[in-house]
Amino acid sequence: MTKSTPTKVVRSAAPLTGQRAHEIQAFGSVVPMPIALAEATRRESAASLNQLLADTITLRDLYKKHHWQVSGPTFYPLHLLFDKHFNEQSELVDLIAERIMMLGGVSIAMSADVAEMTLVPRPPRGREEVPVQISRLLQAHEIVLKEARTMAGQAAEEGDDGTNDLLVSSVIRTNEMHVWFAGEHLVDGPLVHADGQATE
Ligand SMILES: [Fe+2]
Repeated sequence: MTKSTPTKVVRSAAPLTGQRAHEIQAFGSVVPMPIALAEATRRESAASLNQLLADTITLRDLYKKHHWQVSGPTFYPLHLLFDKHFNEQSELVDLIAERIMMLGGVSIAMSADVAEMTLVPRPPRGREEVPVQISRLLQAHEIVLKEARTMAGQAAEEGDDGTNDLLVSSVIRTNEMHVWFAGEHLVDGPLVHADGQATE
């Protein structure tokens, strides 16, 4: 039996790495999409959704920061709650980004670009106390909810039902739910002794 060392490699079998070229669609532009919506409507919806996307990505990341950095007696339930909300905000990020692409637009994606666009105030790198963490989350949710309501009204006026439905059914309802679940942790209720007045 003869031993042979394989040496032949066809060039097309190797990955062609290091390639660069001009981008094929500029951020802020829209390509034609046959979805029976005017270009101006698609452009306006895509621009609005990109602002919402930047703020939702930031809110999502704020939840992961707090998931990691939370402390104190409520560590365990908040650690889990923050991650649940992170996952649900991640789903919203995907829905919003893909809606922008469906409209013919270009979704904002990378963190440096998101940081330049977002309206959510930047938190410090270090850890903060639970009430501060939750207050930051509620502030971010309200920014998202305020713009989502405005955008939903504009999309309805323009006949962009798909965007309106995404904003109302997914973005607004999910964020309202998150505000409730996070906000109840800032109610200063008694843990052992009831302090309300007995009525009987
Ligand atoms: Fe984790």
